[in-house]
Amino acid sequence: MAAPIRRIGVLTSGGDAPGLNAVIRAVVKTAEFEYGWTVYGIERGFEGLIGKPQIRPLDGSAVTGLLPRGGTILGSTNKGHFRAMRVDGELIRDPAPYKELAANARRLGLDGLVVIGGEGSQGIASELASYGVRAIGVPKTIDNDLWGCDQTFGFDTALTVATEAIDRLHTTAASHDRVMVLEVMGRDAGWIALHSGLGGGADIILVPEIPFNVDAIASKVLAREFRGSAFSIVVCAEGANERGGSQVYQEATGTLGGIGAHVATQVGKLTDKDARVVVLGHLQRGGQPTPFDRIMATRYGSAAVRLLAEGHYGEVVVSEGLAITTVKMTDTAGKVRTIPLDHEIIQTARGLGIGFGDEVDPELTPQPLA
Ligand code: F6P
Repeated sequence: MAAPIRRIGVLTSGGDAPGLNAVIRAVVKTAEFEYGWTVYGIERGFEGLIGKPQIRPLDGSAVTGLLPRGGTILGSTNKGHFRAMRVDGELIRDPAPYKELAANARRLGLDGLVVIGGEGSQGIASELASYGVRAIGVPKTIDNDLWGCDQTFGFDTALTVATEAIDRLHTTAASHDRVMVLEVMGRDAGWIALHSGLGGGADIILVPEIPFNVDAIASKVLAREFRGSAFSIVVCAEGANERGGSQVYQEATGTLGGIGAHVATQVGKLTDKDARVVVLGHLQRGGQPTPFDRIMATRYGSAAVRLLAEGHYGEVVVSEGLAITTVKMTDTAGKVRTIPLDHEIIQTARGLGIGFGDEVDPELTPQPLA
């Protein structure tokens, strides 16, 4: 039987998401009040346990006021020593940083580790078991694409920001009879675009799962004009791509992005309408989490501590419908939860006349005479 837990660590890894601080708060409060454990906050993700440990003790008073605060008080690292390399389709990891982390965790007397991070971070955490570190994962990504998890915290906040942006774009688009393209986050999965597009009443939604055709978008815009709506709103996930093309990267930074500008330019040319782009970017990740995300983050953080107390490790806390449950870390690694093409929300959107850029408006397509 594993030794009883007295002290645990908590870290945030990968890109930030609204609700990270709420998870930290829940971990600390539950560990302290329910189990009497000590908690160390590890700074800058896994990197904080490399070299001289960058840690700070966290107790109830250290996490006061954290529930509504965006970002992460512990800082985060995206690409550090633990990054895996893909060689011939296989993930290869340098064991040295894992050994160093484990040695530091032992020296600090950490009996468990709560890893708040996305798919890449959970992959790192799952490796830690073979080095004697007991870790439980809490899924984080605004993209909502963690495999095995119905909803990650941070998604609701991003969705709320994107929906408000669509609401604001509607009034200005209508005033000038323009096509407004809103580029939102969503690298491999278009959940933010899909949900905000439906919630904000977009006319066209472009997601990575459905390669689009600019002619289909232009047809939709012209069909709307024909029916009396001279403006159109297009929501485009940054990872969306044109049929036969590939994802677009910005020349200056090398980061994903720019597909919205491409769509606006092409649709403008094809329709002879004024088409503009707005890139929402990191506004979707910053600021206060919504009440939904605060509650979800709190439930995830508490559940992670309870799981450690019950002797579990190598698992990620996830939501399944309204319930909190777990999946194995090894099961989430390397997998992305994309939108199934037969998803009810896609069906609903299509039924409302929302285009996905993969159809051509039958009213404008010449039909052969019967
Ligand atoms: O993974 C979430 C995400 O928001 C992606 O949609 C986006 O491509 C990425 O983070 C951007 O990350 P960074 O801020 O590191 O460029």
